[in-house]
Amino acid sequence: MELPGLKAILIGGASGFAKATAERIAAGGGSIAILDREASAGAEVAAELGGSWHPCDVLDFEGIEVVIDEAVAALGGLDVAVNTAGGGKAGRTLGKSGPFSLDDFRAVIDLNLIGTFNTNRLCAAHMAKNEPNEDEERGVLINTASIAAFEGQIGQVAYTASKAGVAGMTLTMARDLGIIGIRVNTIAPSLFATGLTAGVTEDRAHNLTKDNAFPKRLGRPDEYGRLAVAIIENPMLNGDTIRLDAGQRFAPK
Ligand SMILES: NC(=O)c1ccc[n+]([C@@H]2O[C@H](COP(=O)([O-])OP(=O)(O)OC[C@H]3O[C@@H](n4cnc5c(N)ncnc54)[C@H](O)[C@@H]3O)[C@@H](O)[C@H]2O)c1
Repeated sequence: MELPGLKAILIGGASGFAKATAERIAAGGGSIAILDREASAGAEVAAELGGSWHPCDVLDFEGIEVVIDEAVAALGGLDVAVNTAGGGKAGRTLGKSGPFSLDDFRAVIDLNLIGTFNTNRLCAAHMAKNEPNEDEERGVLINTASIAAFEGQIGQVAYTASKAGVAGMTLTMARDLGIIGIRVNTIAPSLFATGLTAGVTEDRAHNLTKDNAFPKRLGRPDEYGRLAVAIIENPMLNGDTIRLDAGQRFAPK
């Protein structure tokens, strides 16, 4: 799919990865709708990029359907959905204060895995209404995992399980949706300088990236945006989880 005229929703679009992707799409001539939490900078980002703003919470599994419908109506259709809303809750399977809380485990699965699947299925229903383009495509879904999906560190058990689920469903969903020309890909980043990691000091950032092959630094949100655009533009990229990690492999801690 080409950027000029593209209609995209960015879930988590007020900050970091999804904001950088929105910037690239808008600069390339596409239209964007920013979906993010009420308290985020979504209104400002949408205004800056000439897009629409739709406060939401992906954990409101029913309410998000209405918000996605509104965003698609504002765009006049839907070609691309990027989802970065997510996060974690640290803790060992068995810690000093006892076993990891099941409620916390479920909350992380709800946010990262169920939230992603829910928005994907709802966005796919909108994309299915598109006329296919010359490559027979009707849409592209881009999700966000983490390299912790593959080598989670100590204390990341819930996060790893949720992100491994996102990576794991990518090929199956691409196969499910292939018949209607919707591609599905997941980006698995290492450590990036986004809102999520804003509290990481320079020393800690150096320590966390010193084992990267190259470059030995935190990633920049625009490097995610560039990969997202490459996925959008290249019809042969499908069903895959692409690591974006400067050759980093997480050690146990
Ligand atoms: N930054 C990193 O180092 C890193 C590395 C690997 C994976 N990730 C993944 O990237 C995603 C975070 O993106 P980011 O790094 O750009 O962070 P970010 O905080 O800059 O942006 C994430 C956006 O998602 C929104 N969001 C969070 N929960 C939401 C909810 N329930 N409903 C609606 N919006 C919600 C936030 O308000 C925020 O604007 C997460 O899925 C995280 O697991 C981040």
